[in-house]
This record gives sequence, structure tokens and C-alpha cells, in this order.
Amino acid sequence: MAEPAQPVLFFDSGVGGLSVVAPTRVMLPTAPIVYAADSAGFPYGIKTEGEIAARVPALLGRLVERYRPRLVVIACNTASTIALPVVRAALDVPVVGTVPAIRVAAAASKTRVIGVLGTEATVRQPYVDDLAARFAADCTVLRHGSAALVELAEAALAGTPPDHDAVAAELAGLFDQPGGGAIDVLVNACTHFPLLEDVMRRVAPHVAFVDGGPGIARRIVSLTAGQAFPATPVPGRLVFTRLGTRERQIAGGLEAQGFGVVEAL
Ligand code: DGL
Repeated sequence: MAEPAQPVLFFDSGVGGLSVVAPTRVMLPTAPIVYAADSAGFPYGIKTEGEIAARVPALLGRLVERYRPRLVVIACNTASTIALPVVRAALDVPVVGTVPAIRVAAAASKTRVIGVLGTEATVRQPYVDDLAARFAADCTVLRHGSAALVELAEAALAGTPPDHDAVAAELAGLFDQPGGGAIDVLVNACTHFPLLEDVMRRVAPHVAFVDGGPGIARRIVSLTAGQAFPATPVPGRLVFTRLGTRERQIAGGLEAQGFGVVEAL
């Protein structure tokens, strides 16, 4: 049985997983949180499958040993679509992954044309083919991989507001594809992208945006049902695999979000 102080550990290459932390905090406001960013390995989206499959389980093994979490959340589509089975096999704690919310999008789409915006690594995964075949067989599912949006989201958290035209140029990678003009639901299939959603909505006001965050939060609630949590919120812990100037800048901005402790793995 979990001790009240045992954390939920969120893992991503960078700050993207904060888009999963946010809905979780709404549902479990006193859950102790360790947020681990693999800043030394960032970005994941342009890495090979082999690099990710080797890196992620090894890091998570070290993180679990150090922080003894009650639950691990891989708050990264790239890592989840490539390494989730290996991580689950290697760890003896429950692991929740993040996969593109294609099922949610298919349920909402009226035009039956869905856009999937992820990293280059995520959008080429057979896992995505499988989700599209299982949950959106009667839809056209267009995909686009963007490394630039990942960088824009990191920069936003480090204090540089995202540029409207730069975001628009990336979304054009989807909307300008044949049939792309009919997209009415866009899946943010990279956890970094919901952090840019205000700008995305201004660029494409006719489109509904969905992501995995709310579903994952509900899954965390269900997996921790009946477990004890602290009576009041405790400071969250930010862990970076490389703690340099940029990471300290990001951490400074996250103090207001309850992350009071910053350390290197
Ligand atoms: N946030 C990650 C995802 O959900 C990956 C971003 C990156 O490192 O390229 O895919």
C-alpha cells in the first residue's frame, strides 16, 4: 500500500509533460509530484527508435530507484509509442503511457477528417497506424511531425512567448496537405503542444483540439483509488538529467506552479 508521501512520477524529454500534470493536479490536488525531464536527451522527436528504446527504460529505472513512486506516468507520446512495453516489463510499479488521442478525436469529428500533430518519431510509429485502424477506420487521418513546435513550447516555458506566424507555419504542415482543409479535430499528439494551445486556437479557430492529458489524469485517479495522500499540497520536485542555465530558467518559472525543489539526476 502506498505511503501518503510516495509521489506520482511524471517523465518527459522536457517540459511537455506539464500538460499532463495540470489536469492531474485538478483531480488529485495533494498528490506529491516528481517531474523528471530528460534535458540531456532532449529532444526525443528527432531520435531513432533504438536510441529511445535504450534510453528511456534505463533512466526510468534510476528514477524509480531514487524516488520510489507509487506510479510512473510517461508523459511523452514519443517515449510511450516506442518504449512503453519495455518500460512496463522492466519496472515493478504501475506505468501509465501517453498515446495519441485518436479515439477521442474520431468520436468528435463531424467532417471525418482528423489531424494528428506529433513529433516526427511519433507520427511514423506503427502504434499510430493501429490506433487509426481501430478507432478511426471511417476517418481520413492526416499526420504531421514538428520539431519546431517542441522548441517553441520549451522556449515559452523559459519565458519567450510563442510567435503566431511560427506556429501557423507548423500547422500548415497539416492543413496544406490534400484534404487538410476539412480537418475539424486536431490531436495534439506531443505533450509539448497543448502548452501552445492558446496560439493554436487563434491560428485555427475552426478546429477543436484534443490531447491525452484529461484521460491520463482519470487513469491516474483510478489506479490510485483508495490510496492515502497528504492532507495538504506538498512542494513538487523537478528533476533534470542535465541542470544548466536553461533548466534553471524553466524551474524559476515553475515555482509559482508549486515546484519548490529542483535537482539533477
Ligand atoms: N513531449 C514529447 C512527446 O510527447 C517529445 C518532445 C521531444 O522531445 O521531441 O512526444
